[in-house]
Amino acid sequence: QRKGMVQMHRLSVAIDGPAGAGKSSVARMLAAQLGYIYLDTGAMYRAITYEALRKGLSEKDPKAVSEMAEHMNMKVAEGAQGMEIFLDGNNVTPFLRTEEVSRHVSPVSAIPRVREILVAVQRKLSEDGGVVLDGRDIGTVVLPGADVKVFLTASAEERAKRRFRELKGTPEERPFSSICDNIRRRDAIDAGRAVSPLRAAEDAVLIDNSSMTLEETAEAIAVLCRRVQEA
Ligand code: CDP
Ligand code: CDP
Repeated sequence: QRKGMVQMHRLSVAIDGPAGAGKSSVARMLAAQLGYIYLDTGAMYRAITYEALRKGLSEKDPKAVSEMAEHMNMKVAEGAQGMEIFLDGNNVTPFLRTEEVSRHVSPVSAIPRVREILVAVQRKLSEDGGVVLDGRDIGTVVLPGADVKVFLTASAEERAKRRFRELKGTPEERPFSSICDNIRRRDAIDAGRAVSPLRAAEDAVLIDNSSMTLEETAEAIAVLCRRVQEA
């Protein structure tokens, strides 16, 4: 009821969690509802991975990948389908969710210099607030001062089922067991790496949405945002 009466503070919202928890879908919905910018940080790590693979670089050579990342010309823009990523002016968004990129993205993301570069970009894009970021280290590293922090999870089984359903009938369709393996492997690397491991910030609100719809999950986070607005 205070809406419209006072100038609303444009919040920064951090959503972290493992693969398939629903982070990007929920972040996109929430940003649309609030009129905020949605930043898919996973897509940025995927773009670096895509470019490294295209150049024949391996995560086993962190120095080469770091050097490539330093000289990369990455731009993000709001497109019709949500956030789009451009490398040297080319829209690479359609190539970021392939099996090959999914297989290499976690080891590439564990390279400290790669993280430094992307974290700086993410902070810069968030400096005016009015943003929803999803990733693995948003509440802990990228925006430790975020107004709202959520750690979104669901059971590994449910997350794999969701990915399976999402890819079924597309060129990226894969057997359930392969999807399950990829999710488990990425979770393990993401949670176990030395730099910015996947974990909930101490002040994050934990939401397990194993038996919640996307709409219910987005609404639960919208409630947290309203609470902060009204405080
Ligand atoms: O959508 P999905 O959960 O499959 O993954 P994503 O959000 O696109 O992230 C892909 C990978 O990027 C993750 O498995 C992490 O290895 C890495 N990542 C990260 O290290 N830090 C972030 N803030 C976001 C993603
Ligand atoms: O970004 P993240 O990897 O955390 O998950 P996502 O890509 O947003 O969601 C993975 C898939 O699960 C998508 O197809 C969502 O539509 C679906 N999903 C769902 O059906 N119900 C939920 N409560 C959350 C996600």
